[in-house]
Amino acid sequence: MRIPKTILLVIFISAVFMVASVCAVSAGQTDGAEINKAVAVLHPTQGNHVSGTVYFSRTPKGIEVKADVMDLSPGRHGFHIHEFGDCTAPDGTSAGGHFNPENQPHAGPDMAKRHVGDLGNIEADNSGNAHYDRTDTLLKFDGRDSIIGRGVIVHGGVDDLVSQPSGNAGPRIACGVIGVAKD
Ligand code: CU
Ligand code: ZN
Repeated sequence: MRIPKTILLVIFISAVFMVASVCAVSAGQTDGAEINKAVAVLHPTQGNHVSGTVYFSRTPKGIEVKADVMDLSPGRHGFHIHEFGDCTAPDGTSAGGHFNPENQPHAGPDMAKRHVGDLGNIEADNSGNAHYDRTDTLLKFDGRDSIIGRGVIVHGGVDDLVSQPSGNAGPRIACGVIGVAKD
């Protein structure tokens, strides 16, 4: 039996589209799973001098957050992931509120109910240097609640871990955007 050429052509084109769409879907999934490290470079907001670097690394126990921040006043400073990776406003307000995809209250990083972005405080020594190291189970690199592309803010005051909606931590003195980093 002889099959018309047009039918063969239709079958061939359908097969090409099926293979292409399967490839596209699997490529997308692979890309998401391959993010293992991210970084935010902190820049001072207007009138401030604070700078620093925040690394986020995937570990078996969660995402490890390691920050080194310089030129702070001694003592504790609120330290959060904010909703938007937008540091364009001179006072950092363009970064929005705390990253809170689960619609929870503001709290400390060890509380069960908290904003995903609630990382607590960094504490500067008498030279103004702060080091932060915490492995967190709520932070994610993948999916709808990914922290990639969100903002990191350091505040002038202390996050009291209780006051709503943001711990009464004062002005935003440094801002950075979380980007994908090389493993
Ligand atoms: Cu904040
Ligand atoms: Zn919060």
